[in-house]
Amino acid sequence: MILETQRLLLREMEISDLDALLLVLGDAESMRYYPKPFDREMVQKWIDRHRHNYVQHGVGLWAMVLKTTGEVIGDCGLVWQEVEGRQELEIGYHVRLDQQMQGYATEAAYACQDYAFKVLGQHRVISLIRPENIPSRRVAEKNGLKIVQETVWRDIPHYIYAVER
Ligand SMILES: CC(C)(COP(=O)(O)OP(=O)(O)OC[C@H]1O[C@@H](n2cnc3c(N)ncnc32)[C@H](O)[C@@H]1OP(=O)(O)O)[C@@H](O)C(=O)NCCC(=O)NCCS
Repeated sequence: MILETQRLLLREMEISDLDALLLVLGDAESMRYYPKPFDREMVQKWIDRHRHNYVQHGVGLWAMVLKTTGEVIGDCGLVWQEVEGRQELEIGYHVRLDQQMQGYATEAAYACQDYAFKVLGQHRVISLIRPENIPSRRVAEKNGLKIVQETVWRDIPHYIYAVER
């Protein structure tokens, strides 16, 4: 287990989380700001990639577990990204559609931000967010991140939201 909040646990993703994460990342409505919703193979690669990140960088996106039920309802965590030629620590999050609008992403993201500052000693975290992704922008804004730059990231215009310690 990496982090605990009032309602959530964040722990390393495992291959046995594939079905639960497919419900999160494979949902076409929820993933409308992505090039396409994930299929099973993409979720498998996603889990592999983050398991590699844990070993390589000590961080990655973690499975988001609802304490009351033990169910995996999303992911949230920290990922190193190259943005505008710089290495930036990004907070990312995905929540299953039927569990959205209850503050879970904000709660988990805040815990990750706090971890980045206090445990990892980082001075800045960012989120890369498409301008039209209002829910994601709200999460960032509720946690004190502000737009600092516009960029084209993976061929798509994004805002760089950032907060400093
Ligand atoms: C972004 C995401 C993780 C947010 O998860 P969540 O648990 O619902 O987030 P929260 O409940 O903490 O906050 C959501 C905020 O967005 C707002 N919101 C959601 N849909 C909205 C809409 N259509 N218009 C305006 N505001 C909206 C909510 O009202 C809430 O803000 P508030 O507390 O000020 O009312 C979720 O929407 C998701 O998984 N999206 C798909 C994946 C994704 O885009 N990830 C981010 C990539 S940058």
